[in-house]
Amino acid sequence: MELPSNFQVFHVMFLLVLIFVRHCVSSHPETLQESLDHFSLPDNFLFGMASSSYQFEGSYLSDGKGLSNWDIHTHTPGKIIDGSNGDIAADQYHLYPEDTDLMDSLGVSSYRFSISWARILPRGRFGDINKVGISYYNKLIDSLLLKGIQPFVTLVHYDIPEELEERYGGWLSPRCQEDFGYYADICFKNFGDRVKYWTTFNEPNIQTIKSYRSGEYPPCRCSSPFGNCTHGDSEKEPFIAAHNMILAHATAVDVYRTKYQKEQGGSIGIVLDCIWFEQISNSTADKLAADRAQDFFLNWFLDPIIFGNYPAEMSKILGSTLPKFSSNDKEKLKNGLDFIGINHYTSEYVQDCIFSVCEPGTGASRTEGLARRSQEKDGAPIGIPTDVDWLHFYPQGMEKMVTYIKKRYNNKPMIITENGYGQLNNPNLTIVCHDIERVEFMSSYWDSLLSAMEKGADVRGYFSWSLLDNFEWTYGYTQRYGLYHVDFTTLKRTPKLSATWFKEFIARYKVDKSQM
Ligand SMILES: *[C@@H]1O[C@H](CO)[C@@H](O)[C@H](O)[C@H]1NC(C)=O
Ligand SMILES: *[C@@H]1O[C@H](CO)[C@@H](O)[C@H](O)[C@H]1NC(C)=O
Ligand SMILES: *[C@@H]1O[C@H](CO)[C@@H](O)[C@H](O)[C@H]1NC(C)=O
Repeated sequence: MELPSNFQVFHVMFLLVLIFVRHCVSSHPETLQESLDHFSLPDNFLFGMASSSYQFEGSYLSDGKGLSNWDIHTHTPGKIIDGSNGDIAADQYHLYPEDTDLMDSLGVSSYRFSISWARILPRGRFGDINKVGISYYNKLIDSLLLKGIQPFVTLVHYDIPEELEERYGGWLSPRCQEDFGYYADICFKNFGDRVKYWTTFNEPNIQTIKSYRSGEYPPCRCSSPFGNCTHGDSEKEPFIAAHNMILAHATAVDVYRTKYQKEQGGSIGIVLDCIWFEQISNSTADKLAADRAQDFFLNWFLDPIIFGNYPAEMSKILGSTLPKFSSNDKEKLKNGLDFIGINHYTSEYVQDCIFSVCEPGTGASRTEGLARRSQEKDGAPIGIPTDVDWLHFYPQGMEKMVTYIKKRYNNKPMIITENGYGQLNNPNLTIVCHDIERVEFMSSYWDSLLSAMEKGADVRGYFSWSLLDNFEWTYGYTQRYGLYHVDFTTLKRTPKLSATWFKEFIARYKVDKSQM
């Protein structure tokens, strides 16, 4: 059989197979414009699967692990919609050899996971290092490397030792900067001989908003009208926590650069949630509002880390509410990353609230930048709604988002650290595993990504969220993002159609490369 010569042919063939398999195909439009004909991915491009400790590991108190803020949160009645928790989750703590084999069979070149801070330092800096925790990650890292899979490690993916929260208020205290540096140092020292990709935080922009503005994530702090909490200040605390996280990032990067990077030869970055903000009309005011929405969401973190300062629009609107960086901080922050990790899933419309009156809604308040965000315009959704309320299928957002970051940050190396599609739970395995919508989602977003890369965007990798169905934070087990289905009673992993698709996609790329 002749091998398909470009991406379109491959994609069409795959869809034909799907039609044969499943008779009915969803009505999503197919975007097949791009091809790999005259374009090859860079050498060492990372094809990966993504995960995080709390969502995957389970074993929440095994082998000396301390309680995390998420252990406390999920064990508080009413916080998780199905009343579930991550005590067992996908049990990767025990099943990592099987999961490594699954990834090996897909042909991926990297696995993105996070380290549970409370597994390494059960009491943060107030206690000892847990040797069994170190040993778990050593075993995981070694099993990956044995299969030629590069570990890609996040230091904090939302979960931190509860003791830090109780002693000094976690991210609200500058104390956490130093403590994070201490934890990071232990990780670089123990794992850095084998780990060549580090990121400090996963989505600190989501974490600060959900923990301190809406109060949905621990420590559940907020004030009216942003949420219903017993403590907090939605207009001040998100900026304080973010400031501490930005400086904590700088502290860890400084430790890595001064003590380890030269010898270990790895790179370090940060992962942000990236929503593409589409101006709702062609008016100049709405154009500026869309820019402002990025300032208050993404550039809030990336500007300080790359340029040493918050975006000018933020300072202008927030005044003295926005913490300031000392000249010392600015020096430390300068050029504070090697690559930008991009989690991209969805897009939203943005409407100006400075020159016109907005209805209340996300983004409309002064503290959020007076740029109202919405998933619809005149009653019509942006893109195509999916099973997951916040996630709309809008593949063109990928190219636009990557191009925006490329321009603003002078084409710093970028890695797509998450992209994926969620399905609602369905007890019928046949239906859940025929995830043709996920295949269309991934292939369309890939087309869009390739289009940005063909125009010069320096993208070095793509990680699919996620390897397995897992614990989806406040949604518990009601949503499934895995390329492998997990039966949460037996923990059995079953490949979905998307696993087969991704495997063939990666293999086809590898074939292409060898033919050149
Ligand atoms: C806020 O939370 C309290 C305590 O959980 C509850 O009694 C009250 O009804 C909530 N108020 C609103 C407006 O949701
Ligand atoms: C903006 O203008 C372009 C080109 O004139 C047009 O294609 C597009 O539909 C307009 N968008 C909106 C939101 O009005
Ligand atoms: C699951 O769904 C498939 C396809 O719709 C159907 O043929 C099958 O009978 C269902 N199985 C069960 C156990 O309901």
